[in-house]
Order: sequence, then C-alpha cells, then structure tokens
Amino acid sequence: MAAKKVILGADHAGFALKEKLKQVLKDNEIAFDDLSPALDEADDYPDIAFKAAKKVAREKNLGILICGTGIGMCITANKVKGIRAALAYDENTARLSRQHNDANILCLGGRTIDEKLAKRILKVWLNTRFLEGRHARRVEKISKYE
Ligand code: RB5
Repeated sequence: MAAKKVILGADHAGFALKEKLKQVLKDNEIAFDDLSPALDEADDYPDIAFKAAKKVAREKNLGILICGTGIGMCITANKVKGIRAALAYDENTARLSRQHNDANILCLGGRTIDEKLAKRILKVWLNTRFLEGRHARRVEKISKYE
C-alpha cells in the first residue's frame, strides 16, 4: 500500500462515487481526509481541486479527486506545484500512472465509470509503486520546469 493517508475531494457529480470508494480505503485501513463531506449541487470543481491539491502537495500525501468526467479536477490539480494528477479510466492507466508518472492524485469520472470499475482502479492505484530509474529522470524534468 503506497499511502498512509489519502485526501478525498469531489464535486456534486463525483460525490456519490466518492462515498462508495471510502469503503475501499476502510477495507485497506487507509486513513482519509474528506474535503467535501456534504453534497453541494452548486459547487465548482476548481475550488475543491485547488484545496485538495495544495494539501496533497504540502503534506506529501496521495489524493483522489472525482468530478463528472475527472477531467476538470485533473486540469485544475495539475496547476498546483508538485502535483502529478492522472485521469485513470481502467486498471492499466491506473497502474501506469503510478509506475511511470509517480502520480500523486488519482482523478476519476463519477459519470463515466461505474462503481465496480472505480473500485478496481482505486485498489490497483493504491497498491502500485513508482518504478524510479528512467521514469524518475522523466518526472524530474517536469519538476525542474515547475
Ligand atoms: C459538472 O457538471 C461537471 O462539469 C464537472 O463535474 C466535471 O465533469 C468537469 O470536468
């Protein structure tokens, strides 16, 4: 398990899936901090993504951000220094985002994938480590640009 604590965030379109994914974290005894504990139909994904991404960067944790597609969360989170947010839509993209990109935020689409797939994606993502080596050289080039 790569994470000790996970920062969770979702807008109205990701709220229901976020609630369901909490069970995966509990089953794996991973502590989490939910930054959007109540459903707000009028919320805007950038507000949540910035808040969560800053916390992940500051505390060097992992994060999970969910909106309708995962795209808005991903675009926003990647504006924050130190964040490598990845939109995963299957187990393979989840695995590779950790192995090759050392992704520290997983973005998911609450309206694009179902609960079963999301749970499989999350388990793979949490259980996969960065491969270092040539991948570290590439990730360092991103950090250097920041
Ligand atoms: C909200 O309707 C929707 O636009 C948002 O959840 C997200 O999918 C944006 O990328």
